[in-house]
Amino acid sequence: MSKVLVVGGAGYIGSHMVKMLGRQGCDVTTLDDLSSGHRDAVLCGDFVQGDMGDRAMLDAVLARGFDAVMHFASFIQVGESVQQPAKYYQNNVVNTLGLLDAMRSHGVGRFIFSSTAATFGEPQYSPIDERHPQQPINPYGRTKLMVEQVLADYERAYGLRSVCLRYFNAAGADPEGQLGERHEPETHLIPLVLQAASGRRPHIGVFGRDYDTPDGTCVRDYIHIEDLCSAHGLALQSLMGGAGSQAYNLGNGQGFSVQEVIDTAQQVTGRSIAVVNGPRRAGDPARLVADASLIREKLGWQPRYADLATIVEHAWRWEIRGE
Ligand code: UFG
Repeated sequence: MSKVLVVGGAGYIGSHMVKMLGRQGCDVTTLDDLSSGHRDAVLCGDFVQGDMGDRAMLDAVLARGFDAVMHFASFIQVGESVQQPAKYYQNNVVNTLGLLDAMRSHGVGRFIFSSTAATFGEPQYSPIDERHPQQPINPYGRTKLMVEQVLADYERAYGLRSVCLRYFNAAGADPEGQLGERHEPETHLIPLVLQAASGRRPHIGVFGRDYDTPDGTCVRDYIHIEDLCSAHGLALQSLMGGAGSQAYNLGNGQGFSVQEVIDTAQQVTGRSIAVVNGPRRAGDPARLVADASLIREKLGWQPRYADLATIVEHAWRWEIRGE
């Protein structure tokens, strides 16, 4: 039974991860400052409220002894990272380095890191595999790439082994309906489309219809939160089994346009969704699709909910909970 510290375990992805680890029989502790996470989303294990930048607190938590740390405590908004880069470098880089230092002090040598497709920047080819050049075009992507580079150096120098998982578009919700996306403010397409369907918002704005894609709207690779978490479980197993560090791209390998997401949401919900066309959002590449062959081959990862309608259906059940 692995003993795992989940930093940021009260957030969207972290909370699903904590639930899955608990189900798998892991001894799990969540550390979260609740700046954006929710205490009631932590469904099992111990919970510690604390700021990752607080070294004394980190020392006290890590003194409990862990086999591995999973790190989900990042700021994730591209636009905000352009406006407030210091906030992003401080939390996503400096505080992550502090976490790694504390892990080294306490002899914790396995780390699973939430990286992103944003480390690639503007795609040079599609689908994007691990050999694709990493040239991020915003501070958010740069913070994640910096940590990836730090991790490579730390393995060589200190033997700290890590798996970096570069998420494409995390989406969906707990199939059992206990958890889902609760960002404040919400910026992600699928929850916003579903809020327009449920009446919580008047409409969905489409950011640009003039992209070089089949219907002119941006194409993304949506991966179900459970499949994303199962990849972390396999990464943990690989590190526990002695594997060396590795970075993997994580998506379904299939792209859907913004319009296709809206159409799917109308079918799944049976409700009509008002659409307002708007200008492009700065920094959005036309197409981001993963080639996830490497994680399939090396870790045997297989998505269970690759179908977009299923992803949207689970998110919809979460959106209308209690209705
Ligand atoms: N979109 C709209 N209207 C909206 C919201 C989004 O048209 O109201 C479009 C975006 O322009 C984009 C697509 O829907 O083309 C998906 O947008 P999201 O904001 O849901 O996701 P992103 O692809 O922008 O972001 C994802 C992750 C980020 C990460 C980024 C890296 O969610 O955390 O990939 O590129 F930084």
